[in-house]
Amino acid sequence: MSELIRLTGLGKSFPQKFGNAVTILQDIDLTIGQGETVCVLGESGCGKTTLGKIIAGLSSYTAGSYQFEGQEVSQLKGESWKKFRSSVQLIHQNPYESLNPALMVFDIIANPIRRHQKIKNMDVLYQKVTELLETVGLTPVEDFVDKYPSFLSGGQRQRVSIARILAMDPKLIVVDEATSMIDTSLRISLLGTLKRIQEERNVSYFFITHDLALGRYFARGQRVSIMYLGRAVEEAPTDELVSAPKHPYTKAILSAAVGSSDILERYQGERYTLQGTDIPSFQHLPTGCALHPRCPQKIAGLCDCELPPLYSVGEGHRVACHLYRGSDV
Ligand SMILES: Nc1ncnc2c1ncn2[C@@H]1O[C@H](COP(=O)(O)OP(=O)(O)OP(=O)(O)O)[C@@H](O)[C@H]1O
Ligand code: SF4
Ligand SMILES: [Mg+2]
Repeated sequence: MSELIRLTGLGKSFPQKFGNAVTILQDIDLTIGQGETVCVLGESGCGKTTLGKIIAGLSSYTAGSYQFEGQEVSQLKGESWKKFRSSVQLIHQNPYESLNPALMVFDIIANPIRRHQKIKNMDVLYQKVTELLETVGLTPVEDFVDKYPSFLSGGQRQRVSIARILAMDPKLIVVDEATSMIDTSLRISLLGTLKRIQEERNVSYFFITHDLALGRYFARGQRVSIMYLGRAVEEAPTDELVSAPKHPYTKAILSAAVGSSDILERYQGERYTLQGTDIPSFQHLPTGCALHPRCPQKIAGLCDCELPPLYSVGEGHRVACHLYRGSDV
């Protein structure tokens, strides 16, 4: 599998009108291969969307490196920037805001084809739009081409968004909680469509979710990265992360999810509960390991002082926790 993107020590700070800049992302190392899915999972506000926007080229990074097909993204200009921007697309969380309400489905999909593939012939355009609507499961296409978004359900709008994105022929799609505003019954069907598109087009996904069961379902056989307050705390092959989690935070997420979904029945480990429910703010990040004020296993004098590096605990499995110091493989 050829490597598509590589993030090394990537960080993001936002300047503040008053006071110091606030750092949201720190030391993010991540690779995604062509045709691969990487899921990033973490609770609300931990920095997932910020990272997704950087990967999609919609936001800048302020530290480290982001290489797309071997080229540093911050250095891209002109045609190479345009090529990068069309190669990486983002599906928004809210299907009610992401489509232009004044355009018919036909034009929503035909416009990027006109721009990107320089096709003007109406018959060819119609054929291309039809193919894309079929790809995303909006059939019979005659029922959809001349509709405005307001006539469509959330799930159908999300499918139109995906068709529009596919018109750009992307290599990587950032899927940011794209099913969270869709009825549960339709969620799996939409995710199934995305998986089929991956098989047909060898597209890569950066799949963002706060829902462990959903991440586990979509990234089965692939990779997951668990994020806490802007840092990756554990990354592993999806099945291993669910059956043999290492980080106390991952164990707490799994413990909370067990029972809510039969997808997670494999977790037989200890049940973990974090102390307190308050998540520290980015303005006042705890010293050392950011989880230490909530961690039932914290080692006083170490966890509150030293930031744990990511220790390698198996093939493709790394964990940022002092409990695993000395176990680097
Ligand atoms: N432009 C900005 N300036 C300052 N802080 C920002 C800015 N954009 C985002 N943040 C902060 O960055 C943090 C992470 O936000 P982000 O939207 O990336 O989280 P998230 O993990 O996607 O959350 P959710 O699951 O709720 O979507 C939040 O504390 C947010 O307030
Ligand atoms: S480094 Fe310490 S505080 Fe952080 S998760 Fe590990 S044991 Fe808990
Ligand atoms: Mg978000």
